[in-house]
Amino acid sequence: MTFRHRPIVDTIPAYRQGRPAPSSSGKRSFKISSNENPFDPLPSVLEAISTQALGSINRYPDMRGWAVVERISSQLGVDPGNVVLGCGSTEVITQLVGLVAGPGDEVIYPWRSFEAYPIIVAGAGADSVRVPNRADGSHDVDALIASVTERTRLLIVNNPNNPTSTPLSDVDARRIMDAVPSDVIVLFDEAYWQFNTFAGASSAMDLFAEYPNVVVARTFSKAYGLAGLRIGYAVAPPDVAEGMMKLSLPFAVTDVAQKAALASLDASEELAARVRSIIAERDRVVAALHDQGWEFPEPYANFFWLPLAGRTGEAAEAFTRAGLSTRVFDGEGVRISIGEPEANDRVIAVCGGLRE
Ligand SMILES: Cc1ncc(COP(=O)(O)O)c(C=O)c1O
Repeated sequence: MTFRHRPIVDTIPAYRQGRPAPSSSGKRSFKISSNENPFDPLPSVLEAISTQALGSINRYPDMRGWAVVERISSQLGVDPGNVVLGCGSTEVITQLVGLVAGPGDEVIYPWRSFEAYPIIVAGAGADSVRVPNRADGSHDVDALIASVTERTRLLIVNNPNNPTSTPLSDVDARRIMDAVPSDVIVLFDEAYWQFNTFAGASSAMDLFAEYPNVVVARTFSKAYGLAGLRIGYAVAPPDVAEGMMKLSLPFAVTDVAQKAALASLDASEELAARVRSIIAERDRVVAALHDQGWEFPEPYANFFWLPLAGRTGEAAEAFTRAGLSTRVFDGEGVRISIGEPEANDRVIAVCGGLRE
């Protein structure tokens, strides 16, 4: 770049969005590259948007998003002062990193994990400390704890982890909380928590009630199927929440997103049924792949991880030829979202072909 700027920006990797469904003549193709919800929006959500939100798009939205904040706080049993909305949970994570870390500070997170972490940390001018996952894709809790130094300002836990779909146990979450100094924030990114069926899973909201330095990030993008509207939230101690709000992008959460989130919270039973059906599809795909002889981490989110290493490129091409866009990590593996049953059938067929 030829203009005066922060050199750190030159080092930031661009975020790579999941590819759209490949164009294929004749047969239907599917996008299973971004861990989205395959269901169409609920009629009640569409109704709320069209009757309550569209008529006011000439006005700025409520910047604090009070109606949503109050609903979330009463559902979770916390104070409204603990809840911060953002333009997706990506924004609340960005607010938090901006609040706690700057040049000379360190942010620890597992790797591989959500690809926005390195971008957000570098954007704040802080240093990333990436702690490699264990061979089974799960967080290396001992190594995460051992990475804490005087410079640590934040430790991020992703449960279940994107892209490996592995859970964090309550025992391990508490080990982290007991080891990290109480003035260092631990962020539990629970973007996929509704899909987490792991019996001993940690619940960040339980930890939030017990430890002074827990922040929880959640989103309406995944289980609630509102990825296109961009709304997520954090639950944080009041002083942390206040600091985060100072760094929020003013008016980033639109009225349309707020109305859709409220209608979704009202329809939580219907959405829970959809989540159950995605979990059932996940279990069906996993069982079929096990029958084919595949070994991969047991998934606890709405996607699974095939650690294909040297065969990644070959597999990626096979999925594309079958009309499926997956998330490809060159030389490492492929992350596959659970999609429509027809897409899942095709995943099973492609995987079968790769075993031959
Ligand atoms: C682990 C994790 N956290 C957070 C997000 C952010 O989601 P959003 O900004 O749509 O709320 C994602 C999205 O893929 C994710 O995988």
